Amino acid sequence: MQYEQFRHAGHYLVDFIADYLQNVHNKPLFPDVQPAYLHELFDEALPEEQLSLQELQQQLEEKLLPNCTHVSHPGYMGLITPSPNPAGILADFLASALNQNLGAYSIGPAATAMELRVIRWLNDLIGYDEKAGGNLTSGGMTANFIGLKLARDFTSKDKAQYEGLDKQWIAYVSEERHVSIDKAVDAVGIGRENLRALPTDDEFKIRIDALEKAIENDKRNGLHPICIIGLAGTTNLGAVDDLVALHKIAQRENCWMHVDAAYGGGMLLSEKNPGLMNGLQLADSVTIDPHKWFYAPLDAGAILVKDHKRLTASFGMEPAYLTDQTDQKKDRYQFYVHGFEQSKRFRSLKVWCSFHHYGKKQIGEWIDNNVEQAKYLHEVASADDHFISATSPVMSAICLRYKAEGLNDQQLKQLHHEVATRIEKGGQFWFATTAMKGKTWFRINPVNIHTTLAHMSNLFQLLKQTCEEVYEEMTKSTQVKI
Ligand SMILES: Cc1ncc(COP(=O)(O)O)c(C=O)c1O
Repeated sequence: MQYEQFRHAGHYLVDFIADYLQNVHNKPLFPDVQPAYLHELFDEALPEEQLSLQELQQQLEEKLLPNCTHVSHPGYMGLITPSPNPAGILADFLASALNQNLGAYSIGPAATAMELRVIRWLNDLIGYDEKAGGNLTSGGMTANFIGLKLARDFTSKDKAQYEGLDKQWIAYVSEERHVSIDKAVDAVGIGRENLRALPTDDEFKIRIDALEKAIENDKRNGLHPICIIGLAGTTNLGAVDDLVALHKIAQRENCWMHVDAAYGGGMLLSEKNPGLMNGLQLADSVTIDPHKWFYAPLDAGAILVKDHKRLTASFGMEPAYLTDQTDQKKDRYQFYVHGFEQSKRFRSLKVWCSFHHYGKKQIGEWIDNNVEQAKYLHEVASADDHFISATSPVMSAICLRYKAEGLNDQQLKQLHHEVATRIEKGGQFWFATTAMKGKTWFRINPVNIHTTLAHMSNLFQLLKQTCEEVYEEMTKSTQVKI
C-alpha cells in the first residue's frame, strides 16, 4: 500500500465529505431513477485491473453520490435514520482503521473499556444501578432479539437454552410494535402465533385492560406468560406505554419485562420534556438505538440489562480457542461471554466521541428541536379542516391523514401513496406512509440536526397542495363518484 496515496486520497475525501455535508440541502433528496437503472449501473464483473484511490473516488462521485438518499438533507423525515453527527463520522473512520474486535478483550483492550463506559452512560440515563450491563448491537432488531432471548431464558429458569421450550409460552405487546418483535419471538422459538398484539387506546398506548384479559384467557387455557413487552416510543407515533403498570403485571406473573425504546431512548436526553419515559428503569431489559435519536452514524444499537448476570447466564460459553490463557486473574472483560455477537465492530467509539464533542446538553437540544417541529406540524395540520392528526405528538413522529370527501378507504390509501410518491419525486422532502387502526396515514418524523420550523411550514404547504392536486385528479376520473 502506498501510504502517500492513502494520505492524499484521505485528505481529499475529508474535504469532499465536509463540502457534501455543508451543501447537501441543495441536492435532490431522493434520486429520480429506477432500480433497473441502478442495477445496470453496478452490473460489473469482479475487477481484474487496479484502480488508483483517485480513480475510485471519481467512480464513487459519478455512480454512488447522485443515487443516494440524502438523510442529512433537512427535508428527510422518513424511516428513522438521522443525519449523522460529524464527530461520529470521523470516529467511524478511525474505528475502521484500528479494526478493534470487541468480541474479545485481546483484540481491543481500550475499546473494551470504552464500550463498557458507553454502556454505563446509557444505563445511567435509564436509571439502572451498578448491577446493570449491556451490549452495543447492530441495531434495534438485534437488541430486541437479545431482549427476548433473555426473557425466554429467565422465565424458563435457564432451561430453554439447553432443552428448548417445554411449554407453550406467550409474549404480550401492543399492536403498535415494530416488526423486530415478531421476528424476535420467532427467532427465540416462542413463535409468532404466541405473540399477543393487543389493542391501543386513543393515545396509541397498550390497553392495560386488554392485556389483563389476554393473560387471564391464556392462563385459563394452560398457556404461560413469558414476557411483557412495553413500547417507549412507538415507530409510528412515539407513544409510550404505561411502563409502571406493565412492570406490576410482569412481577405478578413472574415473567420478564422488556422495553423497546429503540427510537424513544433519545427522549432521555431531552431537557424540555422530562418524565416521559417514567418507569423505564423498572424493565429487566431495554433496547435503545444511539444510531437513531442520538444522531450517531449507523450502526449502533444497544441492549441494556438491569442485572448483568442475566447476560452471562444466557450467553456465557467459553470455548478453548477463545479463552484467554494469559488472563489468569480473569479481570479482562470478554464481550463474547456476556453477549450474542462474536466479531463486533468498535461501535462505542462514535457514541463516545459524539458525547464528548457535543455533550449531553447539545444533543438534548437537537432532540427538543425535533419534538418542537413535530408539535408545530400537528398544530398547523389540526387547524386545517382538511387534515386529521392521529394524536398530539409526544416525540418527533407525527401521523397525518387527508380528509377527502367522497373517497372510500381504498381510494384514500391510493391518494396518500400517490401524494408521497409525488413528493419523493420533487426531491425536497421524504416521508413515509403507514397504517394505523385500519386507516392510511402520512408518517412524518424529523430526526435531523438540520431541520427547522421553516422546513415544517414548507412541508405542510407542499403536502396540502399535492393532496388537493391528487384529490382533484381522482374526483375527475370516472371511477370516483361523489
Ligand atoms: C421501535 C423500534 N424498534 C426497533 C426498531 C429496529 O431497529 P433497527 O432498524 O436499528 O434494527 C425500530 C426501527 O425503526 C423501531 O422504530
